[in-house]
Amino acid sequence: TVYHDADADLSVLSDRTIAVVGYGNQGRAQALNLRDSGVSDVVVGNRADDSRQQAREDGFEAFDIAGAVSRADVVFLLIPDEVAPAVYEEAIEPNLSPGDLVNFASGFNVTYGYIEPADDVDVVLLAPRMIGTMVRDLYTQGRGAPALFAVHQDATGEAHEVGLGLAKGIGATRSGVVESTFEVETTTDLMSEQALFPLFAHAIMAKYRVEVEAGVPPEVALLESYLSREMAYIFEQAATKGMIEQLLLHSRTSQYGQLKGLESFDPEPMVAYMRDRLDAIQSGAFAEEWRAEQREGTPHLDELFETYRQSAFVQREQETMETLGLGDQ
Ligand code: NAI
Repeated sequence: TVYHDADADLSVLSDRTIAVVGYGNQGRAQALNLRDSGVSDVVVGNRADDSRQQAREDGFEAFDIAGAVSRADVVFLLIPDEVAPAVYEEAIEPNLSPGDLVNFASGFNVTYGYIEPADDVDVVLLAPRMIGTMVRDLYTQGRGAPALFAVHQDATGEAHEVGLGLAKGIGATRSGVVESTFEVETTTDLMSEQALFPLFAHAIMAKYRVEVEAGVPPEVALLESYLSREMAYIFEQAATKGMIEQLLLHSRTSQYGQLKGLESFDPEPMVAYMRDRLDAIQSGAFAEEWRAEQREGTPHLDELFETYRQSAFVQREQETMETLGLGDQ
């Protein structure tokens, strides 16, 4: 099911206080969108850091997390997934009242049982498919970021209606809100990260390797494959026209080359790799591995960053970006 503005009603929020817990990427964007949608009773819960200061500068009343949750009927949990279980246990759970609603922006902790909300609260998911700054920018342009929506627990019988009201408040129904489950959100999110991104990166690095071996200057290979942003533009066109229909923007030579390449490439090894990732995600093996890694202070994450930062490809990429003045544009 896909919901739009006409399917959601903001008036369900009129007698509810909303606590936005975490005023970071998503928190700031969603709090500002709620206020601009006319949802007046929004407070911020944040530890005493720059984010709390930012919330106050933006005109919100800001409390510590326990203080905001105890005042609220609806809690947006918008802190990093890694810290959420401990914060939930210490500052959120003890301050919830029966009938309150907790809104997650990621299915991860509930899917793997790292957060188990009490039976007497409503639990929903409103996961924008967009980074926080875009959630805000699209809203100010009169548009909205699409979102996945799910009801995990409906203690009051109103979770669905209130959740859709919240979706309207953050601007998501302007675009489209797709109903799903926490498990599906977690799976598709982790699959994009683990199955899709590494293959894109490998494809680009493989093309670079082959071209440089054949004498193509590294900066030319890099510019052609993604530094020019042509690739980013093509994906934008694919999102509005379709993967194949956007080919009409390319030359006939390009169309023929692309379609022949598509036909001749064997995707099966890639599919097998993706099935492996899916198994690790769905069995919880990846989640457990990542938890153990965090307990040890993320040594492998740090090592991987170091390895890739020092690779010849990345060094050359950074140099090229600097020479061409492309950084942080
Ligand atoms: P973020 O990294 O911007 O969060 C920063 C906020 O968390 C700050 O307010 C900070 O004070 C607070 N915080 C950090 N560590 C803390 C701790 N130990 N105790 C208490 N508060 C702490 O988070 P972001 O990226 O906005 O993510 C929030 C949620 O939104 C997550 O569930 C994430 O999966 C989800 N999400 C994020 C998207 C993104 O593009 N960043 C997209 C869609 C969903």
